[in-house]
Amino acid sequence: MFDKVKKIKQKKNKSKIVCLTAYSKNIAEEVDKFTDLILVGDSLGSVLYNYKSTRQVTLEKMIEHSKSVRLGISKSLMIVDMPYNTYRNKAEALKNCKKVMKETKCDGVKLEGGLRIKEIVKHLIKNKIPVLGHLGITPQTVRGKFKSKGKSVRERNRLLSDAELLEKSGAFAIVLECVKSDLSKEITRKVTIPTIGIGSSNNCDGQILVTDDILGLTKSKIKFVKKYIDLRRYIREGISKFTKEVKSKKYPSKKYSY
Ligand code: KIV
Repeated sequence: MFDKVKKIKQKKNKSKIVCLTAYSKNIAEEVDKFTDLILVGDSLGSVLYNYKSTRQVTLEKMIEHSKSVRLGISKSLMIVDMPYNTYRNKAEALKNCKKVMKETKCDGVKLEGGLRIKEIVKHLIKNKIPVLGHLGITPQTVRGKFKSKGKSVRERNRLLSDAELLEKSGAFAIVLECVKSDLSKEITRKVTIPTIGIGSSNNCDGQILVTDDILGLTKSKIKFVKKYIDLRRYIREGISKFTKEVKSKKYPSKKYSY
């Protein structure tokens, strides 16, 4: 487990780190052929359950999806998002992260926040739980509209200092969500651990996106989302062919019958 974390860290300044999300085995199996890191993101709340906020995602839901994802991963580092209100203090965080690590056999967890969670991150690392940080837009605590981060001097200084605190606390990498391009560059230069961007420019050491978005399974209109394939079209094609064959009695032919 720790070797895999080390490998991710060693990629900084050498090669870009490829990360994607997965919520179940079959997708994880394909994603794993290409990625360095797979995140079971709490974005599953909106992508799969139409939740308005990731705050509605429970620990139980994350664990069930993660167990399925685990079955599909053979080489990537597997990280599980800790849901809202599961890491409010050191004791709560350790209890819940241990449960997640034990039940899902993941390699580490992701927590949102900087200064607020610094002591919690230290405590988890001390207990041998690898932590991926998450700064910029942090969906569990965001209020109102999602806006890019790093416009004001105050916000820039706060993000820089949060990134340094996460590094000092022992996080092995930091997700930067919707952070202005020049600030991502500065943070990436300042910290010695990798930065993984989502809507934060190619100045980061790696990139992460929601797999359902890049495959065209969602109808996401977010600026940074690039749809690489319209998988829904292929799904429709297959299902339509099946439907036609059932109706015309072409399926099941003798070949598919006992
Ligand atoms: O929940 C999620 O999927 C995330 C991302 C960084 C994509 O946090």
